[in-house]
Amino acid sequence: MHLAEIKNKFRKLFTTFEALSDLGPALTAERDFAQTADELLRLLMDAIGARESALFRFCDKPAVLTSVASRGFLSFPSPAVIPLLPSHVHALTTARGPQLLAAESRRTLLSSNGNFPPDLIQLAAPLRVGQKLVGMLAFGQPDESHYGEEEVHGLAMFAHYVALAVQNSGLTESLSNRVAENLKLMASVHSFYDNALEAFAVAIDAKHINIRGHSIRVGRYAAFIGEAMGMGASEASALRASGYLHDIGKVAVDRRLFGKPSALNEAEFKEMADHTIVGSEIVSGVQFPWPQVGEVVRSHHERLDGSGYPDHLRGDELAKHVRIMGLADAFDAMTSERPYRQPLSIGEALTEVVKMSPTHFDPETVQALLVQVRRDAVASCSPKLSAAWIKSQPDKPKFLDDRVMCAIAPPDVDQLAAVLHHKTTRNRVYSN
Ligand SMILES: [Fe+2]
Repeated sequence: MHLAEIKNKFRKLFTTFEALSDLGPALTAERDFAQTADELLRLLMDAIGARESALFRFCDKPAVLTSVASRGFLSFPSPAVIPLLPSHVHALTTARGPQLLAAESRRTLLSSNGNFPPDLIQLAAPLRVGQKLVGMLAFGQPDESHYGEEEVHGLAMFAHYVALAVQNSGLTESLSNRVAENLKLMASVHSFYDNALEAFAVAIDAKHINIRGHSIRVGRYAAFIGEAMGMGASEASALRASGYLHDIGKVAVDRRLFGKPSALNEAEFKEMADHTIVGSEIVSGVQFPWPQVGEVVRSHHERLDGSGYPDHLRGDELAKHVRIMGLADAFDAMTSERPYRQPLSIGEALTEVVKMSPTHFDPETVQALLVQVRRDAVASCSPKLSAAWIKSQPDKPKFLDDRVMCAIAPPDVDQLAAVLHHKTTRNRVYSN
């Protein structure tokens, strides 16, 4: 198999694992793990070229591997059980990645006291979450004469995901813990970082139709606003990533609250508002390449006048990236439909944020939002200009999401900019 082909297959697998990272309770509760495991084995066999495979779950009291699913073996007990000695558990826990088994290594890792002969296993991938053994993937006969190095390497990467899926299927830990584990894992698989974060954003918003696409849009708006404030590419990337994850705490909020057609009562509001605290707990143990993420997750509902939550920060206590996220988040909420109201038009939303500046929103940030909307407005009010503009900036996508109509003329944006300027300076002129 060519490398490109292998990559392609693993890419396909990754899509499956996105689903397995099961952020949404719907996925965890409603999916039968044996079925998932069967599908997983099918994809893995296809990817590494195996004819036989089995997935085992590990239980440590007593130490035993028990099969969850199998494919291709001529005769396979249901379930297959492989009891383990402490030396086997130690060897499986400390093995470096998947192991091609020869007679001796087979004896080191597995006992032959169960109802399934380890001799049938040619490639074994111990599954661990952190330092804890949670199971094992076993492969029998390969399609070709032997398993290649690339397949073993690819399997090593995805063994992490399978391990998480096995652990999650136990459903013994809280949802927040599982999300944190998944995030840590994603953070360790650098080549998939951007896709992985996007997958998280999509999964967070899968909670309810009303918030679908919200996190992706907030990440995008925040990055653009940052750019208009003169930030470089890496700061914009940090803003995009923070936007993708800003609402991660919402995985712990009851999904019914998102579709409630009336205002939330006090208890419901608290549960919703606590997504900031839950979210910051989730991300606190994850080493992101961007230190801002944790602060954004906790503080994106803080407002300059101290009226926000959860810590009622005010003024300079709100870092620049927190101010940007607060505005991007509110702007997207305003221009999105809610069960109790229609979306605001772009003009209404901008008028609103200008009105709420400088009490709630940072004027410099609002100004940057106006700059970006004006860019779209110029392009959309003149098709000729638009075509020329797109040609001149092929890599520069428009600012607003496709579902938001840029029904505002550039002079109206300028008018709002003038109002904002007046509000913040009160027409004061400084001179010496
Ligand atoms: Fe939020």
